[in-house]
Amino acid sequence: MKVDVLLGLQWGDEGKGKIVDVLTPKYDIIARFQGGPNAGHSLEFNQVKHILHSIPSGIFHENQINLVGNGVVIDPVIFKEEVESIMKLGVSLSEKLMISRKAHLILPSHRILDAASEASKGITKIGSTLKGIGPTYMDKTGRNGLRIGDLLEPGFQQKYQALKQKHRDLLKLYDYEYNLEEGEERWFEGIEEIKKYQIVDSEYEINNFLQQGKRILAEGAQGTMLDIDFGSYPYVTSSNTISAAACTGLGIAPNKIGEVFGVFKAYCTRVGSGPFPSELADDTGKHLREKGSEYGATTGRPRRCGWLDLVALKYAIMLNGVTRLLMTKVDVLSGFESLKICTAYKKNNRISDQVPYDLMEISEPVYVEMKGWNQDLLSVRAVKDLPDELHEYIRKIENETGVPVSIVSTGPDREQILFRDEQ
Ligand code: IMP
Repeated sequence: MKVDVLLGLQWGDEGKGKIVDVLTPKYDIIARFQGGPNAGHSLEFNQVKHILHSIPSGIFHENQINLVGNGVVIDPVIFKEEVESIMKLGVSLSEKLMISRKAHLILPSHRILDAASEASKGITKIGSTLKGIGPTYMDKTGRNGLRIGDLLEPGFQQKYQALKQKHRDLLKLYDYEYNLEEGEERWFEGIEEIKKYQIVDSEYEINNFLQQGKRILAEGAQGTMLDIDFGSYPYVTSSNTISAAACTGLGIAPNKIGEVFGVFKAYCTRVGSGPFPSELADDTGKHLREKGSEYGATTGRPRRCGWLDLVALKYAIMLNGVTRLLMTKVDVLSGFESLKICTAYKKNNRISDQVPYDLMEISEPVYVEMKGWNQDLLSVRAVKDLPDELHEYIRKIENETGVPVSIVSTGPDREQILFRDEQ
């Protein structure tokens, strides 16, 4: 058995949560491998929208184990809120949620450091979600971090106080007002909540599951263009978001990876600062934002919108070894007379189909124009009923990338999905 990986190929918000939820019945285990509550995975069923931040998107199904891997960073306050809102729906979590002993904890002081660091950057700020992600991963690689496993050890309080003091010293570098004690009570309540779940050596668990022939889906967060190494640095998140991170974030060997499902939106969005070559800072961009409800699931910030960028998409496919493409939000593109796809970047009259070292320097995207379609797609239930122009749009993507588009999502609900392989 192999582990299939599902991840985002753009700047996050590709609609991964919905797709994982739909695919979950085919798997026994859904495992998150990186990121933290900066993620906002939306899924919708029975006309209700649910947003998950730390818990894998398979949680609303009966029989699957949901594992939070060692590569994830967890904020106990957000974790507790999330668990409570899931339990209100009558979903029981204790038997089906496992958390890695080696996952790192986001402290209240990490969040303050995140805010202080962003404030100090002024106009060069990253546009972070301010969930403490960067400072927590810094402590992880700096070998100062606190891990879930520490919660069960006798010296936990001392370790917590020592790290908090370190953060207090660091905060002296910033001209930033804060109250370190403010969020602490809720944080410790969150810790007690975490202790109610199965805290496991997840690398052993997951490899045992594999040996037993269980089917595993690794769920990525954010997107490839936000990867700490290959994204539009420094406007990125603080973890590796590519398929290789499923190995390090779960403890599985590279030869255990099976399918790599790359999720992308039929157009592009980005929240936060940083380069975005095919951005539409005009009425078309506004139209996409309103029609696609493009507002951050975690922060509510308006997302920047633009045309599909094939240069970035091909780069992401290469880095991840994508075997199948899953395209979301095609319904949002209905009603355009024509659509554009960015196929190259132009700078000083030089045209390139590669993502450059400094994406900031792109002067002009090069577009091909495709015919649009008018049909409302929300109620389409068969691939054959999709408009010809959309088939053409999909064929263009397949021809350019060499990867099949296996799934097309036509709306936010579980039901609004078409499997092209099966028809
Ligand atoms: P951070 O990871 O919260 O520090 O944010 C760094 C950058 O990544 C910012 O531009 C965020 O808006 C972006 N980002 C982080 N998580 C997500 C996500 O789940 N979806 C989309 N953008 C994200």
